[in-house]
Amino acid sequence: MALGLGDIKIVMVGCGRIATLHVLGYENNSDAELYGVYDKDKKKAKAFAEEHGIRKVYDSYEEVLADQAVDGVELLVPHFLHCEMTLQACEAKKHVSVQKPMAMNLAECDKMISAAAKNGVKLKVYENFVFYPPYRLAKKMFDSGEIGDPVSIRYKMNTGSLGSQNAPAAGARAKMAGVDMKAAGLEQTGWKVDPMTWAWRMNDSLSGGGPLVFDDGYHKFSVIIDMFGDVEKVSAWIDTTQVVPGLYQDCPAMIMWKHKSGKQYGVWDIVDSRDMYIQSKYYCCDERMEITGSRGILWVTRCTATMMPEVAPVLMYKDGKLTEYWDMPSDWGDSFIDSTLDFIDSIKNDREPILTGERGREVLKFSLATMDSAKQGKEIYLDDYEDKKLKKRKGFFGAFGKHW
Ligand SMILES: NC(=O)c1ccc[n+]([C@@H]2O[C@H](COP(=O)([O-])OP(=O)(O)OC[C@H]3O[C@@H](n4cnc5c(N)ncnc54)[C@H](O)[C@@H]3O)[C@@H](O)[C@H]2O)c1
Repeated sequence: MALGLGDIKIVMVGCGRIATLHVLGYENNSDAELYGVYDKDKKKAKAFAEEHGIRKVYDSYEEVLADQAVDGVELLVPHFLHCEMTLQACEAKKHVSVQKPMAMNLAECDKMISAAAKNGVKLKVYENFVFYPPYRLAKKMFDSGEIGDPVSIRYKMNTGSLGSQNAPAAGARAKMAGVDMKAAGLEQTGWKVDPMTWAWRMNDSLSGGGPLVFDDGYHKFSVIIDMFGDVEKVSAWIDTTQVVPGLYQDCPAMIMWKHKSGKQYGVWDIVDSRDMYIQSKYYCCDERMEITGSRGILWVTRCTATMMPEVAPVLMYKDGKLTEYWDMPSDWGDSFIDSTLDFIDSIKNDREPILTGERGREVLKFSLATMDSAKQGKEIYLDDYEDKKLKKRKGFFGAFGKHW
């Protein structure tokens, strides 16, 4: 049985961790079919195709691009490949959905945007948080003036390793902390991540930046722009936390910004709660958002994880009353379905995807300016911002094997 029943034929390139959630949008899809897969690890691609009932397994990217039956590609590969593989696909007249972060730097974004325009193909930056139903509801309520005029946005993110299947050396860290999972009545949490997926992420000249602020952070920068619009200036502190001996991640981090639309400010803080248990089907990373208006407050209480399942996904405080909103899909996987459907619909109806290359560039600029603000110890105005290319770094850990 084919995955998807439609005429638009898409090939997935890269069958790693996140590919499993990209399949969801093709189930019962009457417009598109997930027609084939390619991964440089052929065994992995074959196993993935078998598991999901995907018809074709390609031997090379060139073979994918030469196949006249293929309309578009979904690129789910390490970040340093995003630009080059997008350019190749555009030249072959294939539509492109490229996973976040769009690219490593702004010059790459410009090349990608021009290549798509020159070849008349769609370029979608695949970011799924913007499609997460609780965020969509909060945005709809906020846009319709439910909580009055926009005042501020507060984002909180913490990772937790206790019992996590996706944090490096989580078991050893729990032992060192003296936490007894059994005695505490806790099951393992999160999904399994192949340790090799950290290999390219731990070298910033392959990943583009830190795992929290740059990599995962792209989602948060994207949602922040989605909610309150473009950013005028940003100021950040980004510290380091040791994950395992010799390896650091980019937190605690405190990021503050001002939007262009007026006196609207935001703050986002990221911490690693090493010994905290976070209930999740996916990464053990919890996000909470608070949007304050002149008349009330909206909260979105989850996204990747479901740390507090007893709390409604969306809450509103207004006119002295707290209202809970439960009636919506709120699994993180739901955001992937809607993001995929946006890509397919943009091809079907010849319209721009919601997250265009231009918007992806703006999100990347916010993220790069944040990292530079922390490095330089000063606030950065985005309109004046020019990024610098990262130097190639050798070795497994690149910059992350030491404090930076
Ligand atoms: N939307 C999200 O929430 C989310 C979550 C995780 C990852 N991502 C993004 O998805 C992308 C992939 O991440 P992942 O976690 O699945 O990584 P991964 O390391 O698990 O998978 C990457 C896959 O790409 C393959 N690959 C590497 N080079 C290749 C090449 N030249 N040609 C073909 N295949 C190649 C690898 O063999 C591997 O199977 C990244 O851009 C990442 O930031 C997004």
